[in-house]
Amino acid sequence: AFTSPCPRILPLSWLPPAHSNILLLFPGGTSKYLVEGHISKQAKVMPGVWGGGITVSTAFISAVLSKLALLGAAACFVLSGVGLTDGPLCFYNASEHGRGHGILWDYPFLDNYLYDRHTWSTCLEPEGIVAWNVVLFSLLLLVSATEMVLASLQILNGCLGCLCGFCEGK
Ligand SMILES: *[C@@H]1O[C@H](CO)[C@@H](O)[C@H](O)[C@H]1NC(C)=O
Repeated sequence: AFTSPCPRILPLSWLPPAHSNILLLFPGGTSKYLVEGHISKQAKVMPGVWGGGITVSTAFISAVLSKLALLGAAACFVLSGVGLTDGPLCFYNASEHGRGHGILWDYPFLDNYLYDRHTWSTCLEPEGIVAWNVVLFSLLLLVSATEMVLASLQILNGCLGCLCGFCEGK
């Protein structure tokens, strides 16, 4: 029997970035800050980016969804980059850094905090929030980059599938 060299549907299960997105809502692993509303802005948007977390099933739907997945993954990638650059929302002594009066919730970091781990202790609460953010956003960058590649392959595969369908049908 003839086996098509390009199957119409590549059975790809997307790595849903949604799974790690959720962790962003629980800085330090507790729900306390979510309840208080002290969650950074990118973390709030992230769980809304579900485009990638989809398992593709049929050819037509796959053609649409692989594009959505690509969009979702791209959005996730951009947001993760911004989240990483901005640094976390945390409780810190603003007077100590000449950025306000007293202790408050804000984004204390400017450029290059990533490379200067001494500055990470600026955040008083949530405990370990800087490492938490850096790890999660880096993970999301990796996952969404992988997903963009997979979704692109899926789209490409869909196009090849169409061409092969042509050949077979002649
Ligand atoms: C915050 O920093 C200012 C300036 O260094 C200092 O005077 C103040 O005591 C600090 N507040 C707390 C609660 O650590």
